[in-house]
Amino acid sequence: MELSEGIYGRRSVRSYLPERVPRDVLDTLIDAGRWAPSAGCAQPWAFVVVDEPVQIQRLKSIAPGMFSEPAFVIAVCAERQAAVQRMGPQGETLALMDVCMAAQNISLAAYAAGLGTCIIRSFHQRAAAVLLGCPDGVVPELLIAGGRPDRIPRAPNRRALDQIRHFNRWGQK
Ligand SMILES: Cc1cc2nc3c(=O)[nH]c(=O)nc-3n(C[C@H](O)[C@H](O)[C@H](O)COP(=O)(O)O)c2cc1C
Repeated sequence: MELSEGIYGRRSVRSYLPERVPRDVLDTLIDAGRWAPSAGCAQPWAFVVVDEPVQIQRLKSIAPGMFSEPAFVIAVCAERQAAVQRMGPQGETLALMDVCMAAQNISLAAYAAGLGTCIIRSFHQRAAAVLLGCPDGVVPELLIAGGRPDRIPRAPNRRALDQIRHFNRWGQK
């Protein structure tokens, strides 16, 4: 797939077919995630791939922002404590930035594999950490719900380039 097709064609999918996604395909998504850039190449991430229906339902119950019945959920976690130890006080913010980069890679790789995804932040992070058995200092930052798309939504409008781009100094168009 052309990179531009990935960037412009990917949508947040919230309706999936009831089909399992093979684990080797899920592994290709995590592989794309681990090739994301990260500050100092610290790679302060870990991914809990949830594909058991009962565990997906448990996650759903603590995620008001999950509107679908996905075939899988990838919990993108930050190794926050290790990041702070390695990078100092900035480590927490940097780790959050890094896991977002990984999440975008995963979303694009899923789209290229014919899957739909939706990034979800509206969930109870501490409950998710307990449910997923995350060790101390490891924080689920994003959930990525995914599966074979049933319905692909229309693209929400984007703010115009003119509204968001400034040349050299704010306000210079
Ligand atoms: C950090 C972040 C958090 C999001 N949280 C949710 C969420 O909790 N529930 C949801 O349905 N979509 C969520 N989304 C998806 C956005 O609603 C979606 O990306 C946006 O509407 C643009 O649509 P598009 O992804 O199809 O281009 C989130 C996206 C991002 C980047």
